[in-house]
Amino acid sequence: NASGAWSGRFSEPVSDLVKRYTASVFFDCRMAAQDIRGSLAHARMLAKQNIIGNQDLSDIERGMAQIIGEIERGEFVWTLDGEDVHMNIEQRLTALIGDAGKRLHTGRSRNDQVATDIRLWLRDAIDSILVLIGDFQKNVLDLAELHAATPLPGHTHLQIAQPVTFGHHLMAYYEMTRRDAERFADVRRRTNRLPLGSAALAGTSYPIDREFVARELGFDEVCENSLDAVSDRDFAIEFCAAVATTMMHLSRLSEELILWMSPRFGFIDLADRFTTGSSIMPQKKNPDVPELVRGKTGRVNGHLIALLTLMKGQPLAYNKDNQEDKEPLFDAADTLIDTLRIYADMITGIKVKPDNMLQALSLGFATATDLADYLVKKGLAFRDAHEAVALAVRAAEIKGGELPHMSIDELRACMAHVAGAGEKIGEDIYAVLTVEGSLASRSHIGGTAPNQVRAAIERARARLAK
Ligand code: ARG
Repeated sequence: NASGAWSGRFSEPVSDLVKRYTASVFFDCRMAAQDIRGSLAHARMLAKQNIIGNQDLSDIERGMAQIIGEIERGEFVWTLDGEDVHMNIEQRLTALIGDAGKRLHTGRSRNDQVATDIRLWLRDAIDSILVLIGDFQKNVLDLAELHAATPLPGHTHLQIAQPVTFGHHLMAYYEMTRRDAERFADVRRRTNRLPLGSAALAGTSYPIDREFVARELGFDEVCENSLDAVSDRDFAIEFCAAVATTMMHLSRLSEELILWMSPRFGFIDLADRFTTGSSIMPQKKNPDVPELVRGKTGRVNGHLIALLTLMKGQPLAYNKDNQEDKEPLFDAADTLIDTLRIYADMITGIKVKPDNMLQALSLGFATATDLADYLVKKGLAFRDAHEAVALAVRAAEIKGGELPHMSIDELRACMAHVAGAGEKIGEDIYAVLTVEGSLASRSHIGGTAPNQVRAAIERARARLAK
């Protein structure tokens, strides 16, 4: 390894295959900006502590500025011989500025360097994700507001259960992603700690100032144990767990969009830009984007398991295994970022079909619970009311209709077995059996009544504005 940083120790070079196998430059080069930021902060600290000279520092700053330009212009030559982003940049720096470049790595190891780079990178990724979750939520709130009173069949077991509003249903996804955002903010707190200064594993004998470096890089605090700082990747695992959870939520929404768009439901249409046709069936308009969100959720789950498995057998401190942390981490972030971007737009392209939603609600006895509650309010015990309504549903089914189609006499007759039930029924029963009545009656915080949905949207908007 002629160009390696440790060539003196070795009697033969590694094979090309081993070089390729051990290199990470082709994926970790995307941390170049973070690597340079970290190096500059380290160099400033070294100069401040008189570990390197001020001339060294200004040479390093000049060289790094040049390298940043080369990378931005696409002129920087990444080499396999350089192995990873850290050594590629350091080698180029030394080629540009000479001896000062060789002093940069004083009191530092690639082990604390890479851990710092990943944390800086991840912090940026989390900040982007938080903004994108907010964008998604804003569009969800807009659609929910339009449909705060639009009746939708609520399902359990994919069977029609009770009426809800479409706005209320959408607001469930606002709540899920609100917790997702909390999770990311929480991961960010633990990510935003500085490993640099831990050196290879034991710390360093130079009179370093870690707090200074932490401040330079915007870290909230320093990692307090050098062995832990260079070797653990729990922050990356937590991040992937938060990504997997968010993707799981979006996957559920995707599953619903797919169902709702199916002609069997016919509740919505997706804008054409999120769908594709079939190469053979001319009539098809397929919900490819939500299907891919559902599919990519599996891939992200895999990344979480990959990282957990990567860490579980590693003795302290750093092991090269850790180099395998980056691809799953990057891909998890990329996948979620693309998914959120596309989803925010997709929400605005949902065309709602309220007539079909209402039509579906008129089947399936969606207001049966309301009838039971009606009897309870008139003095029947809930279990008796439940039984009386079950009898009514059965009778309606035999007759081939729904509850509102039954006359008062028919309702009384079928409930005859339940003592006291029939006599509770009066003309006011029909108001209770309507969808609007059912919706309006669930008027408490968290309920589906349109006024409650609007209040929830208002609270959400206030939170987003903060
Ligand atoms: N490319 C390595 C990584 O991603 C950098 C740290 C290498 N350190 C070492 N001692 N081999 O983890």
